[in-house]
Amino acid sequence: MPGDKSISHRALILGLIATGETRISNLLEGEDVLRTADAARALGAAVSRDDDGTWRVTGAGIGGLRQPDAALDFGNAGTGSRLMMGVAGSHPIETTFDGDASLRTRPMRRILDPLVRMGTSVVAEAPGGRVPLTLRGPRETIPVTYETPAASAQIKSAVLLAGLNSPGTTTVIERQATRDHTERMLRHFGAAVTVAADGETGRRISLRGQPELRGCEVAVPADPSSAAFAIVAALIVPGSEVVIERVMTNPLRTGLIITLLEMGASIEFANRRDVGGEEIADLHVAASRLRGVDVPAGRAPAMIDEYPVLAVAAAFAEGRTTMRGLEELRVKESDRLAAVAAGLEANGVVTEIGGDDLVVHGEGRPPRGGGLVTTHMDHRIAMAFLVMGLATREPVTVDDGAMIATSFPGFVPLMRGLGAAIGP
Ligand code: S3P
Repeated sequence: MPGDKSISHRALILGLIATGETRISNLLEGEDVLRTADAARALGAAVSRDDDGTWRVTGAGIGGLRQPDAALDFGNAGTGSRLMMGVAGSHPIETTFDGDASLRTRPMRRILDPLVRMGTSVVAEAPGGRVPLTLRGPRETIPVTYETPAASAQIKSAVLLAGLNSPGTTTVIERQATRDHTERMLRHFGAAVTVAADGETGRRISLRGQPELRGCEVAVPADPSSAAFAIVAALIVPGSEVVIERVMTNPLRTGLIITLLEMGASIEFANRRDVGGEEIADLHVAASRLRGVDVPAGRAPAMIDEYPVLAVAAAFAEGRTTMRGLEELRVKESDRLAAVAAGLEANGVVTEIGGDDLVVHGEGRPPRGGGLVTTHMDHRIAMAFLVMGLATREPVTVDDGAMIATSFPGFVPLMRGLGAAIGP
């Protein structure tokens, strides 16, 4: 499995704002991450790749960013663009952010609002707070205490990264805990970050500003969000047995596995260990009879990117699966709630959308398939429905596979290696 996308973006970004050299092994070389590498270069880092695949970043240091000569093009990448808004928008330089047709539809107000409170000026923006947009940061950011309006690691991370260039302490409060890779990696680079529980499900994260970040080694673990496709493929294709090595098992990323276990999946964790501050394990997955379950809204942050492929698993299960509280799914690379329901319906699966909940009616046998799925420039919609086609009665067709390269460039060859027939 390729390296984790979230950790890959963060390793390059922290490499940019650290001093000295950061060496990254198993970086995800997907298009989204390569855009972040280009942006880091444009902001003053030296970024190179050795022949053995190790990436080296020599940082510009906090306060040392240089003004890019041209707009930063983040392609399809919400994470890269939003985290970099926190970094560049907290420096006294003017930076323009842009992206592809999908990124140009995605909400950026959620990042601009806290940045403005921290002293950033929004020099220009497309209507509705979208890219292309231009930021100018202050000399030093104002320390704030900010409660995120949505359960979003991207908002949290942008605020914390902007807080690095502040003389005081920046605090982010989240009502539901979201993936904590930024906090973990900031510590790994030498920042003082404290995390406390806030209520039953929330967290309060504080960062002391203007730390000395030192370049270091980052070993990127395998991406659980990419592993998800092989896991579900193994579960739904009769007779399958697959081992997936070095998968990150950070509890804020394992919502899919927990849900699949509740559905009756055979998934075993072997060889659990710790690598660079993250837990990893080898996963043993075998084809299983699945049953429908109720997935609580509180689990959404821990499996946010996995709902499309969970919905595919649910289509093979016996009975109804209800996934609750999916409002954030509407603002991903596409409106994933609508795209998943439409894709399942096109392949003979009965679905219902009620408010922000999705219900999938499984019949405990392979659905008909044979449909054409519109992917709306969304890599995870494309991969989820190709996986579905491995076990439906008729093959499934997706309208576009090009976006798969944003997160999982080796998806087709890897799945073919497992026996999948995927072709034009
Ligand atoms: C990510 C956070 C999630 C996730 C995205 C990656 C990150 O987005 O969907 O693919 O690396 O922080 P939100 O935190 O906005 O939900």
